[in-house]
Amino acid sequence: MSLDIKKIRADTPGVADVVHLAAAGSGLMPQPVIDAIVDHTLLEAHVGGYEAQALRIDQLDGVYDNVAGLIGAERKEIALLENATAAWCQIFYALPLKPKDRILICEAEYAANYVAYLHRAKRDGIVIDVVPNDKTGTLDLDAMEKMIDHRVRLIALTWVPTNGGLVNPAAAVGEIARRHAIPYLLDGCQAIGQMPVDVAALGCDFMSATGRKFLRGPRGTGFLFIRKNRIEMLEPAMIDHFAAPWVSTDQYQLRDDARRFENWENSYALRAGLGAAATYATEIGLQAIKDRARGLADGLRDQLADLPGAQLRDVGSERCAIVSFTLDGLDPGKTVEKGVTRMS
Ligand SMILES: Cc1ncc(COP(=O)(O)O)c(C=O)c1O
Repeated sequence: MSLDIKKIRADTPGVADVVHLAAAGSGLMPQPVIDAIVDHTLLEAHVGGYEAQALRIDQLDGVYDNVAGLIGAERKEIALLENATAAWCQIFYALPLKPKDRILICEAEYAANYVAYLHRAKRDGIVIDVVPNDKTGTLDLDAMEKMIDHRVRLIALTWVPTNGGLVNPAAAVGEIARRHAIPYLLDGCQAIGQMPVDVAALGCDFMSATGRKFLRGPRGTGFLFIRKNRIEMLEPAMIDHFAAPWVSTDQYQLRDDARRFENWENSYALRAGLGAAATYATEIGLQAIKDRARGLADGLRDQLADLPGAQLRDVGSERCAIVSFTLDGLDPGKTVEKGVTRMS
């Protein structure tokens, strides 16, 4: 499927103002996303927050289907949260890990995840084992396989790290995790919206993702996928009366869907925006988005290779649309500042 670039640009008001190359930070929202957020906010202003929710209940409920459809999941396997880190932590802190339990993680781990590993190592005595990369900078699957023993209770992978262009072999890791029946937590934050994501093919039990990056949703949105056969096994670290309705004086009942990891109060305007972003990307086609984005990134890498003083910093045997480079003699922060180009 080819992209209608003219239409996509026309849908994106920000392209009139900036050349924006930071989708790995936060992408430019397209008009349908902006409209969904603004419409819901205006409705709240006119009729009240609870009333707006009631009026738009079908659309808001549909966000679970929009997100599930994006990753090949079922709606009961989706929880909507305020960012990817909150989603990831919900699972990591729900896992019943004991002293000396081992977790296998990757070298290109996201900092927030690593801090949480350190926290549970200090608090619960778990052992963090980092699977080395191969010489291309990709997670070494053979090394991972050799590190597995009966004490490994979790495999956690950052699929596409924040920088470095790398795409880690998430589906191959899923195959190993399944073969050894080890729970597999995938950080899909930079992959979502950038490439097709199919949780069945990935073989992950859990995946966290954000709304604002390549998916082009609003800031303050994220989601969690939990494979349905894992939901009932996991007790959230914190609950409220939405996650677990208070059914009698001394009893609560945890929900039987992934929403046991949500709580009662939410930004419904932002959720509407997330749903619109998932629909927008799905309608364009994730394979077409991937092809276009990688084509542009490869073109940029070729140009950087010819630019005197530019050093490409990407690693990995498969590279995505995140291009990392430095310019000789210039602090990377300054390079970013120079790269901010305004059209007006
Ligand atoms: C690989 C990766 N994981 C997780 C996150 C965290 O996402 P959020 O800021 O939505 O919590 C980021 C954000 O940059 C990221 O790059």
